[in-house]
Amino acid sequence: MKFFVDTADVPAIAELNDLGMVDGVTTNPSLILKSGRDILEVTKEICGIVAGPVSAEVVALKADEMIAEGRKLAAIAPNIAVKVPLTWDGLKTCKVLSSEGFMVNVTLCFSANQALLAAKAGATFISPFIGRLDDINLDGMELIAEIRQIYDNYDFKTEILAASIRSVNHVKQAALVGADVMTAPPSVIKALASHPLTDKGLEQFMADWAKTGQKIL
Ligand code: E4P
Repeated sequence: MKFFVDTADVPAIAELNDLGMVDGVTTNPSLILKSGRDILEVTKEICGIVAGPVSAEVVALKADEMIAEGRKLAAIAPNIAVKVPLTWDGLKTCKVLSSEGFMVNVTLCFSANQALLAAKAGATFISPFIGRLDDINLDGMELIAEIRQIYDNYDFKTEILAASIRSVNHVKQAALVGADVMTAPPSVIKALASHPLTDKGLEQFMADWAKTGQKIL
């Protein structure tokens, strides 16, 4: 499973990237707002750090303007994936930009039929939002499983990018149902390393080691 980091926080991306944990980055208008940075500048900086796909989202609502914005974002670096919303205009934009050879991430996906349309429009990635479905008492993971089945039935090459990941359990479940990629905030990626029995075991080892009176260095 590929790990994308869902943030525009450059130091956080750099730290995880140094550990080999970052296969790509996703941003959105809310994350750009949170970063307090200019979208073109921060996206270029991120593309200079991360070799994999870096999603940058268009903000126009009409296809013609989305396509123009997408071309401008794609010109930032060769590893840009243009992010478009799953609307009819977004699908038109996806078709045009993917035909021009750009990577396209179709975002704000909440149904299997939406994912089917995105694949037919040539999306590189489809982003089903797990957490936001869970927020309204639906089952985000069931959606990932449905999309996996449909894409496998018809051999679609679009990668399933599990998004709106809020917990370590979401990461495990997305991996179990076969998401190709997951994108999560740095805090969730770091939390994957934690286990209370690891902490407890380490505490015991340190206490026993101190009693030996030995040193390694
Ligand atoms: C994905 O590309 C989105 O940026 C993100 O995962 C949305 O997550 P949220 O629902 O926690 O805002």
